[in-house]
Amino acid sequence: MPSGAIEVLPARAGSDEGTRGTVVNHRMREVTELVAGQGTWDAGMVDEVRVLFDSLAPEWTVTRDHPDRNLPLIDALDRGGVEGRTAVELGAGTCISARALSGRFERLVAIDLSREMLAHAVDAAPPLVCADASRLPLADSAVDVLVLQNMFLFPVEVDRCLAGEGSLVWVNSRGSETPIHLPTTAVVASLESVTGSAWRAVTSMVGEATWAVVRRA
Ligand SMILES: C[S@@+](CC[C@H](N)C(=O)[O-])C[C@H]1O[C@@H](n2cnc3c(N)ncnc32)[C@H](O)[C@@H]1O
Repeated sequence: MPSGAIEVLPARAGSDEGTRGTVVNHRMREVTELVAGQGTWDAGMVDEVRVLFDSLAPEWTVTRDHPDRNLPLIDALDRGGVEGRTAVELGAGTCISARALSGRFERLVAIDLSREMLAHAVDAAPPLVCADASRLPLADSAVDVLVLQNMFLFPVEVDRCLAGEGSLVWVNSRGSETPIHLPTTAVVASLESVTGSAWRAVTSMVGEATWAVVRRA
């Protein structure tokens, strides 16, 4: 079994979101682990996830966005050494991340399964595509940087679409309290399991948030 190295960088201070009192949504955690660990993703799960996030869309930005919201993503891009010309955010939601991503890349696209999330996208959002990340409308090796913030990991599509030297940026805004959360070891293990080759990661924390930048070893 391949085994890539995981480099742990010192944690940085940041504001915590857990004080809002929300609790882990165990079903979304279950789906997260099924998708990344078992490759399970069927029509029923598509409907379940789409209906859930369609319903959350009207309040998403107002309940999640705050001035420090993008600090973990920015830290991942900076200390993770993320570079490239073409970036795609998967599960972008309402594109709260846009102000951290825009201007860093020549081409930036946001993809989400939920039309309602995209319909409520922030003003500065990049071009939006409604698609399922398990079957991306992207060519092989087309993307330098894939951003997944609080989003399910579809390892086969990540491997197919990511350029050889590309970077997967994985962020969990509330660390292990994030409903859609995987530890860095599980992200690497999922990719190694489907590709049969080694991946490496650099990982850290900003406040309670966790991030990893994962690349082929
Ligand atoms: C927890 S939200 C995170 C949204 C945004 N990344 C953020 O952090 O604010 C998860 C998002 O992933 C989207 N999503 C879930 N499954 C997806 C799939 N298979 N393909 C594309 N988007 C998906 C949902 O619709 C939702 O907008």
